[in-house]
Amino acid sequence: MPDSSITHRKVEHVEIARKKHVQFTEKTPGFSEMEIEYLSLPEIDAEKIQTKTQFLGHSFSFPYMVSSMTGGHAQLSKINQDIARACEQMGIGMGLGSTRAAIEKPATFSSFDVRKHAPHIFLACNLGVSQLKGYSTSRIQKLVNDLQCDALILHTNAAQEIVQKEGTPQFAGCINEIQRIATQLKQPVIVKEVGNGLSPSVVKLLEKTKVSAIDIAGAGGTSWTAIESMRGSMDNKELGEKYWNVGIPTIPALIGARKQTKKPLIGSGGVRSGQDMLKCMVVGASLTASAIPILAMQDKKGVNGIVSRLNPSAMSSARECSSRGRKK
Ligand SMILES: Cc1cc2nc3c(=O)[nH]c(=O)nc-3n(C[C@H](O)[C@H](O)[C@H](O)COP(=O)(O)O)c2cc1C
Repeated sequence: MPDSSITHRKVEHVEIARKKHVQFTEKTPGFSEMEIEYLSLPEIDAEKIQTKTQFLGHSFSFPYMVSSMTGGHAQLSKINQDIARACEQMGIGMGLGSTRAAIEKPATFSSFDVRKHAPHIFLACNLGVSQLKGYSTSRIQKLVNDLQCDALILHTNAAQEIVQKEGTPQFAGCINEIQRIATQLKQPVIVKEVGNGLSPSVVKLLEKTKVSAIDIAGAGGTSWTAIESMRGSMDNKELGEKYWNVGIPTIPALIGARKQTKKPLIGSGGVRSGQDMLKCMVVGASLTASAIPILAMQDKKGVNGIVSRLNPSAMSSARECSSRGRKK
């Protein structure tokens, strides 16, 4: 019988994400379809361009955080530690991968416990909305406190849960659960997708809650239905292939979300360059994020690899050459 425990699943996710092609194949995030005006007369000196950002009361050296990815197994500790150290060095934020494992299997807590490596960064832990009913607010509060996190990210991932062989696609009542945690937790709560995008109607629902920010995590980057299909049986494989490209691409999702909410938005899903970050900001994001490129650089070159991949000058030169975006 293959080991399908939560901890083993986390290891499989990372192995597949590192080794296989798991990006959308029939959809782009919308960055290449969006053109930003090239500004030949920017009326600012290049050295005066600053990218410092405030998000939920925290300072970021540029508007970016590493998306929630991993933890939950001793083999994964090094990835989280390297990401944390790189984020501390760069003054940016970090999301831990689903910290459900730290509740279900307390022995895995140390794989998420990165605060000592990154004392100053914005750090967020992560739980799935379809599992919230199983946890009291006080248990979740303890988790956030023990990991010394500044926020809790709740991921909503209907497509992934449907394809995942151990999935829990029980989404009835989730909006009330989100509201319970957002109202009662001491730290701010962020809701995110996992790369299939939040539609305007979902953002409209979230707008009515006490959630502090929304990460639209749009389609066009990493496909979680693809990853889950590669782990499962023939049934999961067929389902995953069918839904490989499901979702709302990042730029349209951000544009739609901005019309529904005044809450801060995070633009993510296929963000691969400073230009992509800028395009997210132009259509209303306050922060941007990405996952898989960071995992790849950590694998190749550890902390230094991540730092070199995240060269913030890309963002400032993009800003220098551009003013405001417009759709083609
Ligand atoms: C290896 C890996 C593990 C992930 N685990 C989680 C997770 O536990 N919780 C979550 O909210 N998102 C998770 N994600 C999704 C990412 O946070 C992100 O939303 C998604 O990969 C799209 O971003 P990208 O195109 O930059 O990879 C994971 C992504 C990767 C690559």
